[in-house]
Amino acid sequence: MKKDLLTLRDVTRDELENIFEVAAKLKRERGNSDYRPLAGKSIGLIFAKSSTRTRVSFEVGVGELGGRPLYLDQSKMQMGRGETVADTANVLSRYLHGIVIRTFAHSDVEELARVATIPVINALTDEFHPCQIIADMLTIKEYSGKLDKSIRVAFYGDGRSNIANSLVLAAKLTGFELVISSPEEVGYSKELAEDAPNIVWEKDPIKAADGVSYFYTDGWVSMGFETEREERMRIFRPYQINDKVYAAARPDAKFLHCLPAHRGEEVSASVMDNPQRSIVFDEAENRLHVHKALMSLLMG
Ligand code: CP
Ligand code: NVA
Repeated sequence: MKKDLLTLRDVTRDELENIFEVAAKLKRERGNSDYRPLAGKSIGLIFAKSSTRTRVSFEVGVGELGGRPLYLDQSKMQMGRGETVADTANVLSRYLHGIVIRTFAHSDVEELARVATIPVINALTDEFHPCQIIADMLTIKEYSGKLDKSIRVAFYGDGRSNIANSLVLAAKLTGFELVISSPEEVGYSKELAEDAPNIVWEKDPIKAADGVSYFYTDGWVSMGFETEREERMRIFRPYQINDKVYAAARPDAKFLHCLPAHRGEEVSASVMDNPQRSIVFDEAENRLHVHKALMSLLMG
């Protein structure tokens, strides 16, 4: 039976470990391997939103696994002119061997996966970004050698962004400590955390820094929320990750960001550009290895 990746709820702890193992192997052997699980296969990459990392790493990844990537701009597809998601899923299932999709409504990706007879990977919706968070967890494992309750991650800013939501599911899955530091009126998606005492909310950004091994933030204006820019700049302003926050943290705390970053908004240049702190490019590189692992396991 085909398997999809729509959120981290689709992954068990054992499956996650397997993804890490495959990704680590593909990383070690990159450029020196004849592993071609996608040979003869075509993978559709549907994007309704902008992308640098996700698009390029999936396109390169499909090629490296021996397959053919098809970049599909959703606004240029008939789906962009009102063809239903279900009809699109039926048609694409006759041509392709897998679909990677970045769009707005998470329910559209659920519908696509429900109807398609081929695997679907969520490459970001308004609600979730599972591929990103799997790569982030691999990065933490590489730096700390483990991913368990001894690791404390603090997410600052939009506690309801697709990144924050996916981090909540990741903490639930693996047991790492997660502190969400966001304004009172935003909070976080508590319903996703159900019975997870390792996930806490701390309004005070200085208190939230206590004992943190990994700081994480995301842009304050996610794609699709541009009309709220002014209000978001105002409410998230106290949640910038900067020297003041670092002064309250362990000196060896690392900085993660899904990117793109906005220096002077969610992160100061002194954090983002400090190689003792920032591991964002190792994190971005891991997107490639994780996407290759996901495609080889689900579509290979
Ligand atoms: N982090 C991330 O998904 O980046 P892109 O929007 O550039 O794909
Ligand atoms: N929350 C951000 C993530 C970008 C990778 C957005 O949705 O725009």
